[in-house]
Amino acid sequence: MAATKQKKIGILTSGGDAPGMNAAIRAIVRTAQYHNIKTIGIMRGYDGLLEGEIEELNSRSVSDIIHRGGTILYTARCEEMMTDDGRDRAAQVCKVLQLDALVVIGGDGSLRGAAELAKRGVNVIGIPGTIDLDMACTEYTIGFDTAVNSGMEAINKIRDTSTSHERCSIVEVMGRNAGHIALWCSVTGGAEEVMVPEMGPMDEDRIIQEILENRSKGKTHNLIVVAEGIGGSQHLAKSIEKITGIETRATILGHLQRGGSPSAVDRMHASMMGYLAVNAINEGAVNKVVVYRNGKHELIDLDEALAATREFDQSLYDMIKILAI
Ligand code: F6P
Repeated sequence: MAATKQKKIGILTSGGDAPGMNAAIRAIVRTAQYHNIKTIGIMRGYDGLLEGEIEELNSRSVSDIIHRGGTILYTARCEEMMTDDGRDRAAQVCKVLQLDALVVIGGDGSLRGAAELAKRGVNVIGIPGTIDLDMACTEYTIGFDTAVNSGMEAINKIRDTSTSHERCSIVEVMGRNAGHIALWCSVTGGAEEVMVPEMGPMDEDRIIQEILENRSKGKTHNLIVVAEGIGGSQHLAKSIEKITGIETRATILGHLQRGGSPSAVDRMHASMMGYLAVNAINEGAVNKVVVYRNGKHELIDLDEALAATREFDQSLYDMIKILAI
């Protein structure tokens, strides 16, 4: 009887890195080893795939990475994968590498790239990895929890000095197109005002009026969170100070939120998602995304996963307003 051919899977991380990606890579490699599946690390996301930049991974290659932020495979935002030529070429490379499946860890754009490969006959499994949480198919994306905790800790520190100086503080958090990080940082940091892209452009007059109202109710300092997609924090600080006379400072947290050791929550979800991705491949399931919904992890079809758009959580926004009273 002919021996069954050993399966081979590729792993890549793509788009913005997210704390917990390494925990997912570790889980994929070790679960694959358990099932006697070979693992190839593809460096620098789709850029590296197009260049054939690969490294064989084994259990020891992923030792001592569970607690590290970033991604040992490096990552990139690949322009070429936005073109049909690039996608055709990437699919061709997967065939040359004889991959039985490719596991893509990344956000919406990265999983759309995976869907293009699936259309071209490559078997793919997606794992949602982005600090932005801007994917409708899942209630959890790798890195969000750590990013929010980093934002909250920064706000705690800014609050101390803001209180001492009786100032108005503006904290700008990450999220170009999505305000989920801003909403969570506002609730957990106790902000009185939040501005997110989903609610349209900033209304400076309304903000200034609210600050004055809150001061008249006895507040001695103010904390405002602005999502990156709204921007203009420094300008807002100057306007507030000029019009109200209240000393105002803006802090832009930026990429500080994308780094750091992943939280327990991120490590847990990332490990489970990596483990389930390889179990699925081992059982012959492909073109799926591992998601977390209604309290459990499951695999859903890639097309279904990418079809929906995430709704804005109006209730969180409303709560922030009420808790600021
Ligand atoms: O990865 C998501 C994210 O951090 C967004 O929150 C942010 O808008 C964007 O990436 C920044 O991208 P870059 O690191 O390429 O400037």
